[in-house]
Amino acid sequence: MSKAGTPDFFYREAQRLGYAARSAFKLLQMQKQYKLITPGSSVLDLGCAPGAWLQVACQSLGPLKNGGAVVGIDLKKVKVPPMHCDSRVQTVCADALNLPKNKLKALSPQQKGFGVILSDMCPLVSGISIRDAALSAELGMRALDLAVGGVSLLHSDDIVQGEGRSECSNSTPKNDGLLQPGGHLVIKLLESEDVKEFGQLCKPLFKKAAWLRPKATRSCSKEIYLICQGLL
Ligand SMILES: C[S@@+](CC[C@H](N)C(=O)[O-])C[C@H]1O[C@@H](n2cnc3c(N)ncnc32)[C@H](O)[C@@H]1O
Repeated sequence: MSKAGTPDFFYREAQRLGYAARSAFKLLQMQKQYKLITPGSSVLDLGCAPGAWLQVACQSLGPLKNGGAVVGIDLKKVKVPPMHCDSRVQTVCADALNLPKNKLKALSPQQKGFGVILSDMCPLVSGISIRDAALSAELGMRALDLAVGGVSLLHSDDIVQGEGRSECSNSTPKNDGLLQPGGHLVIKLLESEDVKEFGQLCKPLFKKAAWLRPKATRSCSKEIYLICQGLL
C-alpha cells in the first residue's frame, strides 16, 4: 500500500481529489502551517501551469460571496481547471521576467495590488546544478522585485551591508511593488549557496521569513520555498 513519502502517493492523491498536479499538496501544507490565503484574498500565482495552485488558492478564498481573486501567469497557456476553481480565477500567458508591473497591477482587484504573491516558477532543469540554480535565482529575484519593488530591495541591500534603512529613507521614491502592506510572499528556489542571500534580503522586509521543504517535494528535487509573512 502506498503511503506519504513514497514516490507516487501525492500523484495518486492529486488524481483522486481532482487536482491538476501533486504540487497542490505543497500549497495545501503551506496553507495549513501559515494560513497565507484567507477568504477574500487577492492572489498572484507566478508559474501557474498546470493549475494545481490555482485550485488550492481558489478553495482557500472560501465561498464565492466572500470575493477575492486569483491571477495566474505562465509561459504556457493554462486553461483554468474546472474543478476547485470558479469565476474568481483567471490566467494570462506571459513571461514574468518581462511582463510590466503596471500590466500586472491592472489585473489585481481595483488595481490595488495583491495580498498574496506565490512564485512556483522553475526553469527547465538541465541537470547542470550551477546553471539550474542560477536560472531559479533569476526567477526568484524577479518574483521578489515584482512583490516589493526595486527600491525596497535596494534598502535591504543596504541593511545587509550594515547601513540601515533609515539613513536613505528621506530621498526614497515610492515603492513600486505589487504586494500590499501586510501581504505574504512565497518564492521557490533551487538550493545553492545563493539561496541564503534570499533569506537575508527578505528578512528585513517582512515580519517573518522561514524556509520550507514541503512533504510533497520529490526526494531527488533541490527545491525549497521561502515563506515571507507580513510585508512591513
Ligand atoms: C513547477 S511548475 C508550477 C506548478 C504550479 N504551481 C501548479 O501547481 O500547477 C513551474 C512553472 O513555471 C513556469 N515558468 C518558468 N519560467 C517562467 C517565466 N519566466 N514566466 C512565467 N512562468 C514561468 C513554467 O512554465 C512552469 O509551468
